[in-house]
Order: sequence, then structure tokens, then C-alpha cells
Amino acid sequence: MISNVKIIQLPKILDERGNLSVIEEFKNTPFKIERAYWIYDVPGGEVRGGHAYKKNEEFIVALSGSFDVLLNDGKEEETFYLNRSYYGLYVPNGIWRQIKNFSTNSLALILSSTIYDENDYIRDYEVFKDLRND
Ligand code: TYD
Repeated sequence: MISNVKIIQLPKILDERGNLSVIEEFKNTPFKIERAYWIYDVPGGEVRGGHAYKKNEEFIVALSGSFDVLLNDGKEEETFYLNRSYYGLYVPNGIWRQIKNFSTNSLALILSSTIYDENDYIRDYEVFKDLRND
């Protein structure tokens, strides 16, 4: 098990008119939300991610469809299959992550604790491993 990673169940308001779920910062995310982005129209077989963040934390939700989130802390690897819009995966900083096996028309919402900063990325897995295993 990779420490601090967790699946967080979101509120689900069932209604005959259609269901509703909600995310409020600090209540449902362990961090202040500075940014939201989403990944969509992913061609079959493509892989997103393949990096770690020095500071940024993430909260990933499969708003539609399904995909796998592969996490690696430099020692262990764990895969989370997300396929419900009322579960979020919390990923702390310092974790290598990839997202793959996107279903057709899947939509990945990613809430982030920092604004976009290319300098926060570690894009070389060997560099990441060296940093983690120091
Ligand atoms: P990247 O984070 O590498 O995508 P993924 O992890 O899904 O593979 O980002 C892809 C490109 O999009 C990269 O050139 C930077 C840009 N980008 C932004 O401009 N702002 C953002 O918030 C994000 C996440 C990416």
C-alpha cells in the first residue's frame, strides 16, 4: 500500500430526476483547490501522465466512463480503477502517476492543490526514483 493515497467517497444525492454529487474543498478534498482540469477524447490505448509532482496534490474523479490510475512511490506500485462519479482518488505529492485504459467517452476530472507550474513536474522516472530512494 502506498501511504496517504486514498479513495474518498463523495456525497450522492439520489433523485428520480437524476443524481447529484458534489466536491467542496477541505470537506471532501484534503487540500485547497487551486485548479481544475479535465482529460477527454482520449484515443484508445493512450496513456496520460507519466510524471510526479514535487508539491502538487491531486484529486481524480471519473466523471464519466472509466480508467486506471497507476501510482508508484518509488518502491511499490498500486492501480486504482475509477468508474463512478461519486468516488475521488486522492494522490499526494511525490507519487509517480499514469492514467490509462480510458473507456470510450471517458472524462477524467482532476482537481489540483497548485496552479500549473512546469517546474513542479518530475518527468524522468530515474530522477524520481533517485529522489524517493535517497
Ligand atoms: P501534462 O500534465 O503533461 O498532461 P498529462 O499528465 O495528462 O499527460 O500536460 C500536458 C500539456 O498541457 C503540457 O504541455 C502542459 C499543459 N497543461 C497546462 O497548460 N495547464 C495545466 O493545468 C495542465 C495540467 C497541463
